[in-house]
Amino acid sequence: MAQLWGGRFTKETDQLVYNFNASISFDQKFFSQDIRGSKAHVTMLAACGILTQEEKDSILTGLDSIAKDVADGTLAITSEYEDIHSFVEANLIARIGDAGKKLHTGRSRNDQVALDMRLYCRDELVETKALVKELLETLHRLMKEHTDTYMPGFTHLQKAQPVTLAHHLGAYMEMFKRDYSRLTDIYQRMNVCPLGSGALAGTTYPLDRELTAQLLEFDAPCLNSMDGVSDRDYVIEMLSAFSTIMMHLSRFSEEIIIWNSNEYQFVELDDAYSTGSSIMPQKKNPDIAELVRGKTGRVYGALTSLLTTMKGIPLAYNKDMQEDKELTFDAIDTVKGCLSLFNGMISTMRFNPDKMRASAKNGFTNATDAADYLVNHGVPFRDAHGIVGQLVLYCIDKKIALDDMSMEEYKAISPVFEEDIYDAISMETCVKKRNTIGAPGPEAMEKVIAQNEAYLKQLS
Ligand code: ARG
Repeated sequence: MAQLWGGRFTKETDQLVYNFNASISFDQKFFSQDIRGSKAHVTMLAACGILTQEEKDSILTGLDSIAKDVADGTLAITSEYEDIHSFVEANLIARIGDAGKKLHTGRSRNDQVALDMRLYCRDELVETKALVKELLETLHRLMKEHTDTYMPGFTHLQKAQPVTLAHHLGAYMEMFKRDYSRLTDIYQRMNVCPLGSGALAGTTYPLDRELTAQLLEFDAPCLNSMDGVSDRDYVIEMLSAFSTIMMHLSRFSEEIIIWNSNEYQFVELDDAYSTGSSIMPQKKNPDIAELVRGKTGRVYGALTSLLTTMKGIPLAYNKDMQEDKELTFDAIDTVKGCLSLFNGMISTMRFNPDKMRASAKNGFTNATDAADYLVNHGVPFRDAHGIVGQLVLYCIDKKIALDDMSMEEYKAISPVFEEDIYDAISMETCVKKRNTIGAPGPEAMEKVIAQNEAYLKQLS
């Protein structure tokens, strides 16, 4: 048991208590952030005259050597230390002696852990943004390739109106654009430095908190030390944005699972992104899409768990907050893993335009356009709706499509129909005429694709 405290205790900590309390098994994940924070702290202490230059240099060298030894495996992070902060400080003192004992001047583990967690989340947010950007680029490429790949658009999972694959993918493009912008917003809000908050009430040393913030590339120091040590809003916001990303990935996965089914055959997943069955030799399963859909639950779980942990905590620091880590680390790893696998899966899967087109052609996806045809010939929409309803009933009975009805059959239901009805309800016309902003028509899609192109270019 290597602890940073013990002076006021007369008994050893019970081993079970020690184990229950310790966090080293998971907070070693932000070892490099802890080192980075300590280096900034010490640099600031020396700049303020609280440590000598020699002490600072010796501590920095010591911290660098610990980082190097951990990186190359010569120094193991073991459970003999209570947490990562104790590990670093104990090793520093072992290496450089008394100067090491000054590292923690004007600092508490409360502001130290608040800093480490913030640095870690900030780093991971940047990586997650890069993965969302890659996904956006894939979607953009696919959209450009499939502006005239026709497919049915659905509502209630019933065929509704024909769209294009570019249009369908464009919906996800919008969702992931919003996700990207949410991550950007969160980064901005989280980018304030808690170090210097002390245990809760600042410190009596003349710390230069502006300098610490600057050294760690924060926009500013936080303005209230009690908030500094106990704010976990940024983690909650991040988990909330992650939950939304997972929700989008999960919806998309669900569609891919449907599209990849034998009944649909709109897509075929690449062999490298599919799995087989131990018993059924014919199987090629969409396990990656199913796992992404399944893992969504654990990210939601992390969000709900942290919200619940935080809701009853009085100011300022309380040990409950240690519970923010494992679930956040797990959620980060899950989201990043899902984003990159999902991107690989959709970049390699093959679309089947013939199947999509054939599917869009049946199921009366042009019924609305038949009604619009009547409206354009002076029939009020509600009457037109009724007439086309009769056409559909007639076709269901005859097992034919609207396109297959003869002119006589049309005329028998409404004399308004003329030869040009066939062109008006062809699938191509149905899509091509829809050119309002955001619609699947080629002119509308061209504009959106150009906007997305410009959007992607300016992303950092
Ligand atoms: N492991 C602790 C955490 O994750 C570090 C802070 C400990 N502070 C304290 N006063 N016990 O929150």
